[in-house]
Amino acid sequence: MSSRMSSNLKYLFYPRSVAIIGASRTPGKIGYEILRNIIGFGFEGKIYPVNPNATEIMGLKVYPNVLDIPDEVDLAVISVPARIVPKVLNDCGLKGVKVVVIISSGFSEVGNVEAEHKLVEIARKYGMRILGPNVFGVLYTPSKLNATFGPMKVLKGYIAFISQSGALGIALMGWTFLERIGLSSVVSVGNKADIEDSDLLEFFMNDKNSRVILIYMEGLKNGKRFIEVAREVSKVKPIIVLKAGRSERGALAAASHTGSLAGSDEIYSAAFRQVGVLRAKSIQEAFDWARTMVSQPPPLNENVVVITNGGGAGVIAADACAEYNLNLMDLPEDLAAKFREYMPPFGSTRNPVDLTGEATEEAYGDSVKVALEDSRVGAILVLYCHTAISDPGMIARSIARSFIEARAPKPLVVSFIGGVECYEGLKLLNDLGVPAYPSPDRAAAALGAYYRWARYAGIVKK
Ligand code: ACO
Repeated sequence: MSSRMSSNLKYLFYPRSVAIIGASRTPGKIGYEILRNIIGFGFEGKIYPVNPNATEIMGLKVYPNVLDIPDEVDLAVISVPARIVPKVLNDCGLKGVKVVVIISSGFSEVGNVEAEHKLVEIARKYGMRILGPNVFGVLYTPSKLNATFGPMKVLKGYIAFISQSGALGIALMGWTFLERIGLSSVVSVGNKADIEDSDLLEFFMNDKNSRVILIYMEGLKNGKRFIEVAREVSKVKPIIVLKAGRSERGALAAASHTGSLAGSDEIYSAAFRQVGVLRAKSIQEAFDWARTMVSQPPPLNENVVVITNGGGAGVIAADACAEYNLNLMDLPEDLAAKFREYMPPFGSTRNPVDLTGEATEEAYGDSVKVALEDSRVGAILVLYCHTAISDPGMIARSIARSFIEARAPKPLVVSFIGGVECYEGLKLLNDLGVPAYPSPDRAAAALGAYYRWARYAGIVKK
């Protein structure tokens, strides 16, 4: 690939101007919704709708052909029926467009392999890059670019999300908003005729706006290249892959969905493990892990401290820590003595540190502060079981205050267990940048995944 082609990829994320070819006059049509999202999400570059049958849409002048636009066009989004795509793509080439997002379906996913090759040929001729075909678009929050027909509202954050599935990708955009998870990017890769996961990994590796790369994957076109690139990228930032098709039935479903030959699932798992890629089993797990990784510094060393007000939660966490290969440190006497100041005589300084059911918000805040400030502690897991004598909101605020004030180079992960009051506490913690989950094992799993990556990247010693 020429260096011009590979440098053109950046215009997918940083276009100075966008043309929407097939911008429609009719609300509810894909070409209308994409234009609406581009305008509504606040894109600050130039926006050029293209449609030979219209003169003005949403107050913008419409051009009959991309060649009529009196300006350079960095990015074009094509939303016209498949049979017209080669013609408008060729016009994009003549225009000097740098990247084209082809929304249109009707190519290799339905057996029209030749038609798809033709698109790649046209793009190569002009040095253009193609995302798609058969995609829902691209979103990049730092550029306020939402060129998708997904939801308009997305929270800004540091997770770069790549999806091979269209409908699932769109649904998850909405879900992340509900779960208050921030995204830097959403890229729908569809048929991957040109731009594929490995190209995007290379971009996101150097993208300061993305701290974690999360991929929903059904199959790879060029597995060898993906593994080579992932090996390097994983040394810099975590890659989480939700690789579907784990079961025989799932693999068959993937084959008929995106034509992906799922290959032997164990081969994927083994290859991912070797190059530091973290494989998640579910959507929840993938985003749970990402939430911790984007908001927390990596582990400082192998010593984990668990702080709890409930013995049972501590036991569950201890089991989960063993399962996820987390090392509960034996507390040195001087550190144990400091924790003892914040608990009644019947508390425990065996790790898990049990502040007991009498724990107040001060006890939580102060003991978390002790663990944050002690450089022998590499990561902290805090558990809270709701009791009638404590207020989850106050406990959450106290933990968050210690975290914000200490600015410690280690991760803090929290779990609140209880009824509806706990949800307010969880929400508050997440909003203040402390990852918080409704069960101890989910919190431990997120920390465990962070450790796996940190060991691979050489941040903590194996
Ligand atoms: N240049 C520019 N615009 C043109 C041209 C042209 N040469 N010719 C026609 N148009 C205009 C049309 O007039 C129309 O605008 P209008 O509604 O104002 O009249 C607009 O372009 C769209 O053309 P239509 O023929 O109305 O096409 P339609 O919008 O029905 O379908 C689409 C186009 C959406 C690309 C469809 O062919 C398609 O592929 N749909 C599937 C898309 C998809 O699902 N992609 C995968 C996403 S992932 C997932 O699974 C969710």
